[in-house]
Amino acid sequence: MRSERTLQWLNDPAAAVAEMSRVVRPQGRISVIDTDWSTFSIDVGDDVLAARVRNAMRDERGRSSNIGRRLHDLVRDVGFEPIAGTQATQTWSSWNPNDSPAPDGCFSLRSLAEDLVARDQLAAEDCDRFVTTTHEAALRGQFSMTLTMYAVVATVKPPHET
Ligand SMILES: C[S@@+](CC[C@H](N)C(=O)[O-])C[C@H]1O[C@@H](n2cnc3c(N)ncnc32)[C@H](O)[C@@H]1O
Repeated sequence: MRSERTLQWLNDPAAAVAEMSRVVRPQGRISVIDTDWSTFSIDVGDDVLAARVRNAMRDERGRSSNIGRRLHDLVRDVGFEPIAGTQATQTWSSWNPNDSPAPDGCFSLRSLAEDLVARDQLAAEDCDRFVTTTHEAALRGQFSMTLTMYAVVATVKPPHET
């Protein structure tokens, strides 16, 4: 059984993993893969902007956006035996905003700006300046973003071990 980038949207991921442990067959395996948005960083040559994004992403608001780093404990706490774990950091270092509003496979920087406004990390009137700053940096080739994802594979403990 597998869950990818879904637990981060739930406000009770433990309940979802407990349900996985209820339905997976004995000695069955699960793999859970998810993002830790507190690892998100952006560098466009503006430290104030970067700090705002970093601070905003640390807060979980109504969903478990930093679940990635907690996956191991999450599966263990509902009775699974973790058997493997890994993490990988995705880096975006080039993007042409004239071709696409979003770096490859990512969300648009305008949607990030709107998210910061919603989190009181950016004044609404600064939204356009945020987008312009990131677009101009990308066109200058001075743009990078990083984000780390985590994965854990776990098995159901044999009944005599629970
Ligand atoms: C980023 S997508 C990942 C989709 C797919 N697992 C993948 O890897 O491509 C997030 C998924 O979470 C699902 N999702 C969001 N909130 C949910 C909820 N409360 N209960 C169940 N699924 C939910 C969405 O329907 C969506 O399919």
